[in-house]
Amino acid sequence: MIEISTDIRKAKLILENNELVAIPTETVYGLAGNCLSETAIKKIFETKKRPFFNPLIVHIHSLHKLDEIAQEIPEKAKLLANAFWPGSLTLVLKKRPNVSDLITAGKETVAVRIPNHQLTLELLENLDFPLAAPSANPFGSISPTTAQHVADYFPEELKLVLDGGTCDNGIESTIIGFENDMPVLYRLGSIPVEEIEAVVGKVKVNNKEENKPNAPGMLSRHYAPNTKTILVDNIIEELKNIKNDKIGVITFQDNIQHHSIKAIEILSKEGNIKQATRNLYEFKLTFRKFNQSSIIVFPFGHTCC
Ligand code: TXA
Ligand code: MG
Repeated sequence: MIEISTDIRKAKLILENNELVAIPTETVYGLAGNCLSETAIKKIFETKKRPFFNPLIVHIHSLHKLDEIAQEIPEKAKLLANAFWPGSLTLVLKKRPNVSDLITAGKETVAVRIPNHQLTLELLENLDFPLAAPSANPFGSISPTTAQHVADYFPEELKLVLDGGTCDNGIESTIIGFENDMPVLYRLGSIPVEEIEAVVGKVKVNNKEENKPNAPGMLSRHYAPNTKTILVDNIIEELKNIKNDKIGVITFQDNIQHHSIKAIEILSKEGNIKQATRNLYEFKLTFRKFNQSSIIVFPFGHTCC
């Protein structure tokens, strides 16, 4: 039975025993295990039912630890680390030989970040090893943004989720890799590309490669709710085409009325993008629970994944 608690000591004991703990970050909750233990890493993949070709992010608590994980770090990566860490930026760098192939899916590179959440930073400081942690959801489903979401996903499979409240950002970190020292966007996320370009200049945006994605977050089906979800500009117009009367709507507007709409969630009354991203996964998960047959999402901005 999973326990929801803020007990860092308990989390430390479980992790030292090569078992898993769900941890809060400012983006989404992570499913964490000892990065140096093959047993723990295998458990991460088994628990998430995640394919082994999909590599994990290593979480560290200070820049000093970066050299133990990565080598030949490009100058631009150092600039980005200084600008955004602790924070929602993941850097993909050349790995050190001691980083397990299981973590990197056999790649020569490793993804790494310093998360910006006090409880998790405190936990990391108390551990002798970094934490490998993918988002704490079964493979392919929506990432959890509260401890309760994690408990709903893994009621029996996990012993502990560290309760750090609702994640501030609510969507995953932005992932940047390097090709000949040129920054390349691998996954859109919490930090807009424009903010990254303000620090290091032009960032290359890779095309989709369905069969061999640089980062599987770029697959066309990902973070998928079980409920059909469509993105529209005009909700009432769209409803004319949908023969279905159990519609859930996620939107900025609070004045929409239609007999088919059975639930409505407002992303942000003030039109605030940050508040909206914080709420998005939460609302999708709520609708999944209540079995709406369609979700309609009103588009907002272009920085979200
Ligand atoms: O915000 C986040 O990044 C959250 C929190 C928990 O830190 N983590 C997260 O992990 O979203 P995950 O495993 O759900 O997504 C990590 C992404 C995957 O798409 C994976 O393919 C990519 O990072 N990735 C990991 N290592 C990589 C590498 N060496 N090269 C390219 N992509 C990599
Ligand atoms: Mg994920």
